[in-house]
Amino acid sequence: MSNKVTVKTIREMKEDGKKIVALTAYDSSFARVVDEQGVDIILVGDSLGMVIQGHESTVPVSVDDIIYHSKAVEPQTKHSLVMADLPFMSYTNPNQAITNAARLMQEGHAHIIKLEGGEAQLDTVRHMTRHGVPVCAHIGLTPQTVHKLGGYKVQGRDNKVAKQMLSDALALQDAGADAVVLECVPVDLAEKITKKLEIPTIGIGAGRVCDGQVLVLQDMIGISDLAPKFSLNFLVDGRNIPEAIKAYVDAVRDGTFPTDQQCFF
Ligand code: KIV
Repeated sequence: MSNKVTVKTIREMKEDGKKIVALTAYDSSFARVVDEQGVDIILVGDSLGMVIQGHESTVPVSVDDIIYHSKAVEPQTKHSLVMADLPFMSYTNPNQAITNAARLMQEGHAHIIKLEGGEAQLDTVRHMTRHGVPVCAHIGLTPQTVHKLGGYKVQGRDNKVAKQMLSDALALQDAGADAVVLECVPVDLAEKITKKLEIPTIGIGAGRVCDGQVLVLQDMIGISDLAPKFSLNFLVDGRNIPEAIKAYVDAVRDGTFPTDQQCFF
């Protein structure tokens, strides 16, 4: 029987209190290793703009770029669910979003589509999910809007923003989203959102209170230019790359990653 992860699996994992492990990969070799180590979700993230293409942000990434990488990743997956990002300006209205999501699924073979934003994306999420596109929302620090946010900063320390984030998460769930990424969110807010939602939260810089964790592969093996505070290099203690990925998987599953050092309060 196939043990392929689906959107139903991740919902059940939340219900059963089993942590969801996600990691980025952008090519065939890494996708195979990541899949073999039991990662539940491989994210073909627009972070590739920074770690593969060498840009300063994710803004220059195109739909064709994501398709190119997703197409390399998906054939290597026996277990992992393949999540692909809709890049900057590729989902400014529901019709554009669904056209590009269809390309990511049909040409890139992605299984679930991630997009950034809260309230402003509700019509888009509704339109996509009504037409059978699984959606993962992404709130908190949304890197595509870095120029509007004025930098890569923790989001939701302010009461008004925190309230809005909770209401966005609930509205995205009502609109049909299957999961929500919480990036750089204080732990108590991430916990509140996680407890209120029926769909899983996947944190990055949001504490072990989330239903799952995601990291950028290059950060996790210590080869990024500037490793963010919320990341950890697992390629230590004489481990090779598959062992480092397995150590990450085990640490998320048993709740020892992230530690307070990788969190915001
Ligand atoms: O593109 C990406 O890798 C992401 C993660 C940071 C969640 O969106």
